[in-house]
Amino acid sequence: MPTFRETVLQHSNLLPYQIPKGYKRIGNLMVLRHPHPIPKEVGEIAVSKYKWCNGVFQQLGTSGENRRPILRHLAGTAKTEVIHKENGVKYILDIAKVTFSGGNSELRRRLAKEVEKGERLLDMFAAVGNLSMQPIVHKNVEYILVEKDPITYSYLIKTLEANGKSAIHAHNMDCRDITIKDWADRIFMGFHGVDESHLRVALKALGKEGKIHIHPIGKPRKKKELISEYISIIKKQNVDIKNTKIMKVKKYSPGLLHYEIIFEIAKV
Ligand SMILES: C[S@@+](CC[C@H](N)C(=O)[O-])C[C@H]1O[C@@H](n2cnc3c(N)ncnc32)[C@H](O)[C@@H]1O
Repeated sequence: MPTFRETVLQHSNLLPYQIPKGYKRIGNLMVLRHPHPIPKEVGEIAVSKYKWCNGVFQQLGTSGENRRPILRHLAGTAKTEVIHKENGVKYILDIAKVTFSGGNSELRRRLAKEVEKGERLLDMFAAVGNLSMQPIVHKNVEYILVEKDPITYSYLIKTLEANGKSAIHAHNMDCRDITIKDWADRIFMGFHGVDESHLRVALKALGKEGKIHIHPIGKPRKKKELISEYISIIKKQNVDIKNTKIMKVKKYSPGLLHYEIIFEIAKV
């Protein structure tokens, strides 16, 4: 099968550098990330050549703590609300308002496998259940979800309803203000800027033993320093770290990777 770039090149006189190598699909929309302005013609070719594709956008970046995407419409429908189906789960979202990384689908699958049936799962940066909805649907976990942004929260509620799950434990608040104590078996922290203020709350919410998943951005050569930074913050809270695992999730930007670090912790 020709790559995305090859397909566009076959139908245009554009130069390779003007066309991204690949795309991300969210529902029936195509999202293209590229350091250069993408000609609208690329979008028009995508709409005509990919049957599922109703609209094409260039993502220029994200802004703010809620990581609102910055999009440029290229072709097809300009409507940005979608139903994205992945691994048996429906996500309802607006790609112009909610961050949903198409590049994290492998991570979401792995997490759905890793979480065990009946666990107590706390997602402190839930978005629309980007990381937690697959374990919620497939593993029948007990869950508490926290999302600070009101617009993203409204889509989280819609997503829970679309998957037949209760929204009673989904909270629209800053996760630093939660007061959960000694409860969770596992905590997802899918926010790149996690710091001591968030980790203090997470460690309080963790049960006697459990796992905390964090998602920092770092340089490949500085992996050890990255881990030690978090270890020193966690150790301040008088807990034992029984095991630490680091995995690459994806390339984030030139020279930077998105990592997942899982700390297995026991309270002393
Ligand atoms: C970037 S998204 C999650 C992305 C996810 N890792 C993925 O796979 O696409 C992080 C979410 O955390 C929310 N958030 C940021 N700070 C928060 C806080 N202090 N408390 C609760 N939610 C917060 C943002 O609004 C955003 O929806």
